[in-house]
Amino acid sequence: MQIITEPGPMQAAVEKLRLCRQRIGVVMTMGALHEGHLSLIREARNIAGTVILTIFVNPKQFGPDEDFHRYPRPFEQDAAHASAAGVDYLFAPSPEAMYPEGFQTTIRAGALAEGFEGARRPGHFDGVVTVVTKLLEITKPHAAVFGEKDAQQLAIIRRLVRDLNIDVEIVGAPVIREESGLAVSSRNIYLSAEQRKAAGVLYRGIRHADSELKKQRNDLAGITAEIEQMIAGEPECRPDYVCFVDDGTFMPAETAVPGRKYRLLLAAWAGSVRLIDNGLFTA
Ligand code: PAF
Repeated sequence: MQIITEPGPMQAAVEKLRLCRQRIGVVMTMGALHEGHLSLIREARNIAGTVILTIFVNPKQFGPDEDFHRYPRPFEQDAAHASAAGVDYLFAPSPEAMYPEGFQTTIRAGALAEGFEGARRPGHFDGVVTVVTKLLEITKPHAAVFGEKDAQQLAIIRRLVRDLNIDVEIVGAPVIREESGLAVSSRNIYLSAEQRKAAGVLYRGIRHADSELKKQRNDLAGITAEIEQMIAGEPECRPDYVCFVDDGTFMPAETAVPGRKYRLLLAAWAGSVRLIDNGLFTA
């Protein structure tokens, strides 16, 4: 595995690969690799001959009160995991390499970014689409694999590449869960053992939605109220939002129309850790 830290050499390597007709797959991460990231790398390996992993803790997607400075950065460990998982190139630039002095261009995410995570974290998705566009330009992949755990992010990135005619296939990979059902996330390391167990309530909420929709219930608002109560009933947890949205527009939906696809979006606090999860259903 080759480690590259500057955009120029990464672009030069990619140009050679493309000349040799190599199909390139990229997995973008902020490091602190876990089983979820490794599943994205496996997916990239399945669909591409060369896999590039990017590790960059992007300052532009963190709010002033968020955890940018204490975000875990176990680089040596990440590099070992990446190499063992069959990554060919690890692109790990510094903030200065990505945003040199004088940098001033930001891409603005549109309506899909207005609610939910976008409303809670102003500017977050502008930071995400700006860095994703830069990383796509630097790594020029044929395919880029993103986790479905960040469903709103994935929808925004799909929109980004359509809107800007970026020639890349965006591939969504399923959520990986711990035994309790908790979706794996780099921030899970901040949870106490009790909080970790309690946080499984998000997945229990998703399963509740699944069983209620299978009974042909169409009152989505009623189901979300029940899930909110389940989360509030966990001593370690506090619901932030629970909402069904139309899977195409991310607009909230209160009543299901048979045959349509809805995504249940959930966010909750376990102690000081904010967790998100989601499930996709056909009514
Ligand atoms: O999902 C993430 O880890 C980040 O938002 C991403 C896509 C790597 C951009 O910094």
